[in-house]
Amino acid sequence: MTTSNLTRRKFLAAGSALGALSQLPGWTLAKEAMPRRRIPGTDESLPIIGLGSSKPVSQIADRGPGPITEVLRALVEGGGSVVDTWPRNPTNDAVLGEVINLPDLRDDLFVASKIDRTGREAGLEQFAETLQLYQRERIDLLQIFSLTDLDTHWKTLRQLKDDGKVRYIGVTVASESLYAELAAFVGREQPDFVQINYSITERAAESRMLPMLADRGIGVIINRPFMNGDYFARLGDRPLPGWTAEFDCESWAQFLLKYILPHPAVTCVLTETSNPSHMAENARAALGGMPDEAARERMREFINGV
Ligand SMILES: NC(=O)c1ccc[n+]([C@@H]2O[C@H](COP(=O)([O-])OP(=O)(O)OC[C@H]3O[C@@H](n4cnc5c(N)ncnc54)[C@H](OP(=O)(O)O)[C@@H]3O)[C@@H](O)[C@H]2O)c1
Repeated sequence: MTTSNLTRRKFLAAGSALGALSQLPGWTLAKEAMPRRRIPGTDESLPIIGLGSSKPVSQIADRGPGPITEVLRALVEGGGSVVDTWPRNPTNDAVLGEVINLPDLRDDLFVASKIDRTGREAGLEQFAETLQLYQRERIDLLQIFSLTDLDTHWKTLRQLKDDGKVRYIGVTVASESLYAELAAFVGREQPDFVQINYSITERAAESRMLPMLADRGIGVIINRPFMNGDYFARLGDRPLPGWTAEFDCESWAQFLLKYILPHPAVTCVLTETSNPSHMAENARAALGGMPDEAARERMREFINGV
């Protein structure tokens, strides 16, 4: 991804957003480009909303390339670029590789992948498959999935970074049960990124892990913002409280994202969706006002009562 491409994309995104969103209430918010956060220790920044692609990629076999293509277009049109994925099913992943290399997408995506197999050779093999399936010579971010075979793969990731095969390296967790192991790891190593679960309904990372990652100068990518959809099930058909308009909140999805985004440790939040209009709605959560600490407390109290 280059600066000139980013500038071109922002310009095009602003133009198309004005066209499409002028039909919607609150359209003036779309005049803003998506805010970005700096990757600690670098001059590079990332847009603050990204896509977790597991669901739309797993649906490729049944639904074809259409939904993942349109979701990625909605991400880019909304000013986003980060897509988190990793190879699991070669048939689906080969299609994903075609889609992320479409002319209107390929220069605008920051592609994050993972290793989830055990053993050095298996990890290297999975990375080689990633490059081949995604038609890339290098990957923006390579992560160790859920700390799998951590010490083995960490050596591999450091070597791949030294060799220029990956730009950034990191690890993921999606459960509090791995926080102790994660804390020990970031106490002795310096990953560029940690991906961790955090939401208004799953706040365990708030007290220790997020401050620790910020102190250590590590980029933070959030996963499971909607608890894989359980958040929406828990809310049912409750109406959005009127006071959420104070921070330009239009939906329950934005309520959740606007709770996460003000946290100073957070670099980017991955939202998973197979629905392009949900992707656009999630991207718009980055725009307009954000709750201050008093409003965040009110949001917590509200959700605790649900
Ligand atoms: N250990 C790991 O490395 C790990 C583990 C878990 C997750 N992750 C990463 O984190 C990403 C996200 O986490 P997650 O998988 O738990 O998913 P999530 O983002 O917490 O929730 C996804 C669910 O929310 C729904 N949704 C999304 N936007 C919506 C909106 N605006 N309105 C209504 N519903 C909406 C989606 O349904 P629709 O399709 O209908 O929109 C989907 O069912 C994953 O894709 C993956 O990249 C990593």
